Amino acid sequence: MGKDNMHLSFSTSCLNRNMEEFIRFLKENTTKDQYNAITYTRGPLLVAAGAGSGKTRVITFKIAYLIKRGVSPDRILAVTFTNKAANEMKERVKHLTGFAPYWIRTFHSACVRILRKYGNAIDIKPDFKIATETDQKNIIKEVMKEQKAKERKKLSLLITNLKNNYSSYLMNKDRNGRSLQRICKQLAFQLKLKPPVDKAYYYYRDYEKIKQKYEYLDFDDLLLKTMELLQSSPEIRKKLQNYFEYILVDEYQDTNNLQERIIGFLMQNGNITVVGDDYQSIYRFRGAVIQNFLDFEKKYNAKKIVLGCNFRSIKTIVEASSELIKNNLAQVHKELYASDKTDIPIYIKSFADEYDEAKYIPDIILKLVKQKGCSYKDIAVLYRSAYISYILQHELIRQGIPVMVVGDTFFFKKREIKIIILFLRMVFQNDKLALLQFLEENFLKGFGEKGLEKLKKYAETLDTVLDIVNQAGYGREFTRQQRMTLLAVKDGVEMVKGYNKSADAVQAFLDTFQNVFRDYLTAISEDKEQLEERKRSVDEFLSFSKSHQDINELLEEIALLTDKVANVNEKNAVNLTTVHQAKGLEWKAVIILGAEEGIFPTRHAVTSAEIEEERRLFYVAITRAKRYLLITYTFYRNNCESRLRISRFVKEIPGKYVTSM
Ligand SMILES: Nc1ncnc2c1ncn2[C@@H]1O[C@H](COP(=O)(O)OP(=O)(O)OP(=O)(O)O)[C@@H](O)[C@H]1O
Ligand SMILES: [Mg+2]
Repeated sequence: MGKDNMHLSFSTSCLNRNMEEFIRFLKENTTKDQYNAITYTRGPLLVAAGAGSGKTRVITFKIAYLIKRGVSPDRILAVTFTNKAANEMKERVKHLTGFAPYWIRTFHSACVRILRKYGNAIDIKPDFKIATETDQKNIIKEVMKEQKAKERKKLSLLITNLKNNYSSYLMNKDRNGRSLQRICKQLAFQLKLKPPVDKAYYYYRDYEKIKQKYEYLDFDDLLLKTMELLQSSPEIRKKLQNYFEYILVDEYQDTNNLQERIIGFLMQNGNITVVGDDYQSIYRFRGAVIQNFLDFEKKYNAKKIVLGCNFRSIKTIVEASSELIKNNLAQVHKELYASDKTDIPIYIKSFADEYDEAKYIPDIILKLVKQKGCSYKDIAVLYRSAYISYILQHELIRQGIPVMVVGDTFFFKKREIKIIILFLRMVFQNDKLALLQFLEENFLKGFGEKGLEKLKKYAETLDTVLDIVNQAGYGREFTRQQRMTLLAVKDGVEMVKGYNKSADAVQAFLDTFQNVFRDYLTAISEDKEQLEERKRSVDEFLSFSKSHQDINELLEEIALLTDKVANVNEKNAVNLTTVHQAKGLEWKAVIILGAEEGIFPTRHAVTSAEIEEERRLFYVAITRAKRYLLITYTFYRNNCESRLRISRFVKEIPGKYVTSM
């Protein structure tokens, strides 16, 4: 797990000189409060402050500070919310110190590392597979065959909530079987699950069974199992506690109970700094518990530092966002002032419908680029739900504006990429479910629902993908075409297996199935343009695979990109993302789409607690902007029947901060 005595390689005098220079640098680049937070190491520390006040920067600088003080970079655990944030932080620390600490990670990714190394103690194989969102969806589909997609989505939320907040019940399965049933029922009731709520528990149980059969851990398991490990093995817990000399957690307001407990297990002697903002807690629906943040100071007897200056956004945006959030009555209010006193109004613009909106926005983007000194990558389009963005997406692509879409059509979910990934998973992770999904994609012909049902029987009894295709390939119950397909898979697997570097393996797949792949691309493309686009993404994937030569590492990285921020070959492109995924990030110009009642706030938000969470989400959205902010709304959208009304959140921004163009 790294070199324990790395700091010994510094000579003391060199350290001192470095330190002096670094302290000077810190003083020049931070406020007094930030500086105090960075250099405070005498016990647990809570930094609570509004958007853009430098919380993440405090964490980044503090990591550098600790390294300069002689702490080994490998022994600092820093937890961020998204992969993108982790990578940015790593880069920044590297720039400051020359080291890119191994343990700057998302929560889930840190847990994967811990489980791979120590999971054995609770019977987890070091090469366990991670169920992606799609895998999870497929399993849920299987256990809820007769139910609609909406209900399936609710079940996935139920499972997440169950695992994240009721872990103690899950770990004592036998003793608490009945309590579990009760909890499932209660959650099902809260989530308004349609089928009889009594059934929820059995769905959950079936889900677990199938998942185990395919030897997956889902995202929530990563946390749950880590927690189980730390709880059941005092020895490993001690080892890890001793190993991590310092722990830092960003966005602490959105931790769930499980994460809170894991952190509690890992820390010792208060070697921890957490930062967060209760205004920005937006993951309640996935089980985040804001109380963890609010209680931290008392629970750990922590020092608290409050930061009051927003360095990100101009005055108008800072003040407008403060006014907006004041409408949340269930919150304690804190003042935030802007360091940049520039006074550019927020633009609010209305349109007849989403097509009008989509025609207008490219012009605005070009204006920002040509007249306001923005690059494409300095611009983001944010929305409450992904479907709001499809028309615009299409229009931007049509006009040749480079976009990076974070969400449904996320890079690794593009069909041309997905098919490669599925194949790699089959070959290198012996992933049987990937084989079924691969065939379902109809890349190689012949497998419809019936064929797959038959093949599933083989998958249930045989151990390896190769055994399955080998035996089924001669199975009488399959059609000639199906047998040919299975044997083609077999040849392909054997061919690709010979390569152990990611890029070589990808290339080998492309070579082996050259003609099939070409036909496949043509078949799934609507026109020539789309075909070219798909070819480009394959090239992009090839070069991405070069950055992760170890195949398992590549597959792990892909599985872990939960935040769906495609940091694949970061390009100069306009970011399109949901607000949830934009947390912690910033852009010079931000466009918020669809500020309408029923959209943002979503029509699903009914209670005042739910509306307040939507308001926090809107607060997160506007505080992403450094300088330019455009908010749009339309009167009709997605064939809705009645006329839409402007979002209450826009109305809550005082008139003096806005202008309509
Ligand atoms: N003392 C400072 N001087 C100059 N710029 C600063 C200072 N502190 C922070 N910044 C800049 O302000 C911006 C916001 O900082 P940062 O992202 O750390 O804020 P945050 O509190 O983490 O925001 P969020 O709540 O959105 O996560 C960044 O561009 C950062 O570099
Ligand atoms: Mg931050």
